Amino acid sequence: MKKIILTPLMVLLLGCFAATAQNSMVITADQPQSTISEHIYGQFSEHLGTGVYGGLWVGENSDIPNTDGFRNDVIQALKELEVPNVRWPGGCFADEYHWRDGIGPRDERPVRINTHWGMVEEKNQVGTHEFMRLTELIDTEPYISANVGSGTPKEMANWIEYMTYDGNSTLANLRRENGQDEAWEVKFWGIGNESWGCGGNMQADYYADLYRRYATFAKNYSGNELFKIASGFSDDRYQWTETVVEEAGNQMDAISLHYYTLPTGNWQKKGPSKDFGEDMYFSTLKEGLVMDKYVKQHSNRMDKYDPEKRITLAVDEWGVWTDPIEGSNPGFLQQQNSIRDALVASTTLDILNKHSDRVRIANIAQTVNVLQAMILTEGKQMIKTPTYHVFDFYTVHHNTKLLPLHLDAGTYEYKGENIPAVSATASKSDDGTVNLTVSNLHASETQEVTADIRGADLSSVNDARILTGDAVDAINTFDNPDNVSPQSYTDYELKGGELTLQIPSKSVIVLRIQ
Ligand code: AHR
Repeated sequence: MKKIILTPLMVLLLGCFAATAQNSMVITADQPQSTISEHIYGQFSEHLGTGVYGGLWVGENSDIPNTDGFRNDVIQALKELEVPNVRWPGGCFADEYHWRDGIGPRDERPVRINTHWGMVEEKNQVGTHEFMRLTELIDTEPYISANVGSGTPKEMANWIEYMTYDGNSTLANLRRENGQDEAWEVKFWGIGNESWGCGGNMQADYYADLYRRYATFAKNYSGNELFKIASGFSDDRYQWTETVVEEAGNQMDAISLHYYTLPTGNWQKKGPSKDFGEDMYFSTLKEGLVMDKYVKQHSNRMDKYDPEKRITLAVDEWGVWTDPIEGSNPGFLQQQNSIRDALVASTTLDILNKHSDRVRIANIAQTVNVLQAMILTEGKQMIKTPTYHVFDFYTVHHNTKLLPLHLDAGTYEYKGENIPAVSATASKSDDGTVNLTVSNLHASETQEVTADIRGADLSSVNDARILTGDAVDAINTFDNPDNVSPQSYTDYELKGGELTLQIPSKSVIVLRIQ
């Protein structure tokens, strides 16, 4: 074997590389690309565990301060997050939800069983009027997920008429009797959820036909225009996407994709949401990054029939899914939320932003108390999770233009495997501000990032914040609600068009550069 002789200069260079984690990026600020729709930052609130009852809704007579039954602390927190849309009432629950159960006097509504989530009583206290009131309170748009699995086209068509028709019809008048004079505006309309699984165990061809049938009766009333979303597959089942788009693409505005990040990658033993070490931290981040491949591949399949990218890929369920918290009802999907999960959020949002020419709506699962939540509640108490703060940082990208970002990232190596140490999004607001979010995924190394920002005359950094934790599993608790919370960030230098950032391990930063 040939011997490699290292010169003193080579040794010095190697030493430098080992000691300093260097990354560079080039941002081209005068070549704006696709719009990053604010709807990529959507939420999802299913009738599941305490996601709606307890988490959002406590009822008008509760001693927890509320407005028309919805908790004031949660309303305030969600308003601050500038939530663009909320998907409701499911998930799997949607395909056994019958909207007529949830209208009229609350004390006369039927009690059903939530067979998907814990077999608990569903008292239908939050129905159409209550949900639409919530959307007003937090100033967001509704995304209604309609029942295909156990409903009928007539039932769905009636719901649309009930909500959106402003003329004289028995259903529109019933809405008025129930307290809502004006027709509501509803754009996002899902036709089935996971129709290949909990939504009816269908085959792609069958669903495509059924989708066409339902979509035919999903009418636009009184100037309201529905944006129809077909049920797509999870993970790497590209054939479903291809079949449904080929056979029913001309009747849809979007098809969904679901992808959940499991710390272990194994549905039988998903891994913990708290008290874990670097192994679970690393594997979760690695699993999260797979979203990029799934979005690309599903989008490629759609390109065959929709090269213009008219049809949106709606990533309307995503997030970290762990084993439930010990002692909780396993059907309630309760988990803690750590700095690790915040980094899965930032890297996933970077991926979705990067594909914003195809992905124009997405919904993290779920808003309160379920899976990778923004907010956790316990009785009267409420905390914001690390993921909440990432969503707050990323509001800078809402409805901006994606900027080309060439990232030469170092690697984060763990036990022979590696992932990029850095992830980022750059965008441009209408007023010329360059918005930059950067994450350092490494568990222990600071990353130096040199950003060469071309095509803009930038001289000052505003609103620089950082989110980090003192351990890979750092969390917020009801006793220590601000353990992982935004701090101001000062470890940067802007000279000419060059920005140098020192980013501590396991952290996310946001900067607005003018
Ligand atoms: O978000 C929890 C569940 O995950 C949803 O109800 C379902 O659509 C998915 O399988």
